[in-house]
Amino acid sequence: MTKTIGILVGSLRKQSYSKIVAQTMEKLFPESYQTKVIEIGDLPLYNQDFDDEDQAPASYQRFRGEMKTVDAVLFVTPEYNRSIPAVLKNALDIGSRPYGQSVWEHKPAAIVSLSPGTMGGFGANHHLRQALVFLDMPTLQQPEAYLSNVTQFMNPAGTEITNPKTLQFLQAITDAFVKLIERY
Ligand code: FNR
Repeated sequence: MTKTIGILVGSLRKQSYSKIVAQTMEKLFPESYQTKVIEIGDLPLYNQDFDDEDQAPASYQRFRGEMKTVDAVLFVTPEYNRSIPAVLKNALDIGSRPYGQSVWEHKPAAIVSLSPGTMGGFGANHHLRQALVFLDMPTLQQPEAYLSNVTQFMNPAGTEITNPKTLQFLQAITDAFVKLIERY
């Protein structure tokens, strides 16, 4: 049966390395899988007053509706100040409410964090992991994906991943994620 992976990218930057990693990984899933990148940049800051059905911004409805159609979620994110970018936390919060109607519950997840620096977004990866525990998402444990020095495995323009070892590693992450999804 076809499975759909929703991909959430924690950067809104046009030339984002996270977007490039996400685009690369889309091609690594088996043929029976579909992927779709889900927009989070248009979501106003979460406000609990919006939990009333008639108060929710249209983009909240669109986002929650799209999330409900996916079987699993791949998060690709940079680290901002040793945590996850606010845009991603905002999306997590919006998807978790109204109370009892979370779009996240029981959906398998995988996290790929990255950085042009040496720590591969470890802090962001684990802050995100902490939220996913509460959201009750079975999350890929191994292999862990902290991509450090991202510019070094891309072409000089920074538009494509060219390093064969990185591509191999991303394939291993994808394969392990697929196995996790098949278990659920
Ligand atoms: C950063 N960056 C960064 N990098 C890191 O490894 N650890 C960090 O804590 C931070 N903090 C941070 C805060 C803010 C506000 C910005 C804008 C940037 C650098 C960051 O990893 C780099 O800009 C990445 O290129 C961002 O990812 P995208 O946009 O390329 O996907």
